[in-house]
Formats: sequence, C-alpha cells, structure tokens
Amino acid sequence: MSMRPNASADPELLEAILLVGGQGTRLRPLTIGMPKPLLPTAGVPFLAHQLARAATSGVTRVVLATAYRAEMFAECLGDGSAFGLEISYVHEEVPLGTGGAIRNAAAGLRSKPDSPVVVLNGDILSGHDLAAQLDLHCKDDAAVTLHLVEVPDPAPFGCVPTDSAGRVTAFLEKTPNPVTNRINAGCYVFRREVIDEIPAGRVASVERETFPALIDAGAVVLGYQDNSYWLDVGTPEAFVRGSCDLVLGRLRSAALPAVPGVPGEAMVLDGATVDARATVVGGTVVGTGAVIADGARVAGSVLFDGVRIGVNARISDSVIGRDAVIEAGVVLDGVVIGEGSRIAAGNELRAGMRVWPGVELGPTSIRFSTDT
Ligand code: GDD
Ligand code: MG
Repeated sequence: MSMRPNASADPELLEAILLVGGQGTRLRPLTIGMPKPLLPTAGVPFLAHQLARAATSGVTRVVLATAYRAEMFAECLGDGSAFGLEISYVHEEVPLGTGGAIRNAAAGLRSKPDSPVVVLNGDILSGHDLAAQLDLHCKDDAAVTLHLVEVPDPAPFGCVPTDSAGRVTAFLEKTPNPVTNRINAGCYVFRREVIDEIPAGRVASVERETFPALIDAGAVVLGYQDNSYWLDVGTPEAFVRGSCDLVLGRLRSAALPAVPGVPGEAMVLDGATVDARATVVGGTVVGTGAVIADGARVAGSVLFDGVRIGVNARISDSVIGRDAVIEAGVVLDGVVIGEGSRIAAGNELRAGMRVWPGVELGPTSIRFSTDT
C-alpha cells in the first residue's frame, strides 16, 4: 500500500471499527442463537472473511462495536492474533445505532485526530481495494470517504449521488425514490476527529444524521466507487449466495481454510459424510458431522454442522441450521430451517418459508387416493 500522508504517529497503526451490534432480524431464525456476523460462512465465521481482508489491506487493529449477543464475539475471535490483527471489544448496553456505535467505539481507538480510521458494516462481503480508498481519502484530505457500488435496486440501501469530481452531494437512506443506482457499500474512511464530533451517549445514525450534516456543512465527503464483488448478506437469500460465491471462488477470501478442491462445487468439512450416490453442487457447504444420504441432491445451500439429509431429498438455495434432520424425499427450495428441527418425509417447502428451531414438521396427514 502507498504512503498515507496523514497517517498516525505510529506508522504501523491503522485502525478499523467493525459494526456488529445489529440483531440480524431479517436472518431469523438463524440469528436467534448467534449474531449474523458469526454465522458459519464457507466453513468459518462470517467475520473471518472481513477480518482477513482488512488485515491484507493494512489494518492492524480492530475495535469491535458490539451490542446484541456481545459475549459471543470474544469467545469466537479472541484477541485477533489468528487473523494477524489486534482485536479489542467495546460494548453498548443499549444499541446506539450506527453513529452512536462508532462514537462509542472511539473510546477504544489509539489513532491521532488527523489519522484515517476505517469503519466497516459487519455484514458485507467486498472485493474492493480498501488501500486505494484510503489513498484517495488521504490525498484529498477528506472528512469521510465512502465506498460506493452500483446495484440494480438501490431502494433498500443508502442512495449516494456524487458530482463529477466524486464529491458526495447528498445521502438518502432507504429512499423510495432513489436518484441514482450508486449506493453506500458500508465501508468508510473517517478522519478520526470527525468521529469524535458525533454526539456521545445517545442513539445516532451515520446514514440519517452524520453524513447529511457533514454534506450540509460543506465538509469534504468523497465517494470511492468501484465495481468489484460486493454483497450485503443481511437476508437469507443473500447469505446463501455469499457463502456459495466464496466456495465457488467468485470472491477470494484469505480466511478460507485449506480445504482440498476450493474453489469448487462444494466444501465438505472434516467429519461430514456424503454418500457416493449423492450430488452436492453449486457452492454448497456441508458442515462438520453432517450426513447426506444416497440419492440426495443438494445445490447452492449451506448445511450447518450435524445436519442430516435423507435418501433422495432435494435441497436447493436453502440454509439448514445445526443438527436439523431432513427426512427421505423432502423437497426444500429457498427456505431456512432452524437448529434442531425435523422435517418429516413427504413435506415440500418452497421459497421464503422459515421453520423455527426445534420444530417438528410431521408426516403430511393428507393422503391422495385414486379410489372413488
Ligand atoms: N454496534 C452496533 N450498534 N452496530 C449496529 C447497530 C447498533 O445499534 N445497528 C446496526 N449495527 C450494525 C449492524 O450489525 C451491521 O453490521 C451494520 O451496522 C449495518 O446495519 P444493517 O442493519 O445491516 O443496515 P442495512 O444493511 O439496512 O443498511 C446499511 O448498510 C447498507 C449496505 O449494506 C446502511 O449503511 C446503508 O446505507 C447501506 O447502503
Ligand atoms: Mg446490512
């Protein structure tokens, strides 16, 4: 990475705040027992991919801004040495929103007032060049530099128009009438002192308050746009797609463990058993201890540890929680099955269905008969 003109007194220090306090509501029931950023994704906790990319981009220290199920993060990620980083944890007693969380996490930063600090949403898979974003930020001495991407449907995101010089002219969070397809990709570089100006101790949103206020005040807010791989994994469909894309090699992650055959059609983790007459394709992950029986077909799906798939079952585009049992011949297409559930033979579940943890979906009681 090139020289950063306003790097901190410690030239080796580059800090990032990682926002991981959301409840992951759209991913329920998977997020009932585990926060979204820790869900197993291509064989490792989701955050491992972000941490590995941050480390390879020059980040040396990460402050995790936690709220929902905070204790699970330290248990899973430790001091960060496994990722070549130092991780420290800051907790919000009540969730403070994105802006409040960033301000709260500033207590854990060591960077000087004019140093760049990276801020990352904790649910993004991105192949963009963070070092280039940092360089742009420092070269133009910006207050904030936002990574921007173009998406077909900008309505569920922060819509971010820019002028011809790349300066952000407005920030319109989840607007029903987006003025551009260019959206906030959830990776920012802040000048550290700009973080310190966010009001402390109350709920605040960077998207709805901080960015619009900075733009109104004439601060230099820049857009860094590139069109590399980008995905917010906040919905079940996107979560499955992200995991499959990693397995298929559409986005390289330094966090991928050395599993033979990666990238490839499937990632079968240690201790899983796949019958020789079963088919597992489309970037499917088969978790530790999972069993796939004779004649089953599993495509583009994520099977957590201990899942059992019965004979001739058909599974596609689905997430199946830990230890769930899918009996013979069941058809699942675009569904989420909670931990420990049992789906009995004869059931067929289609797009959008979600089964809560521990639910037993019994044998179908209706019997069709050709007798009259
Ligand atoms: N610590 C903490 N406290 N973190 C939070 C809180 C909070 O109160 N609220 C949300 N977060 C974290 C979430 O865990 C997530 O990592 C990140 O902030 C963004 O929250 P999401 O709930 O995923 O927001 P979104 O996807 O609807 O919208 C955001 O991301 C889009 C890109 O994916 C916005 O930043 C949009 O402008 C953006 O386009
Ligand atoms: Mg999100």
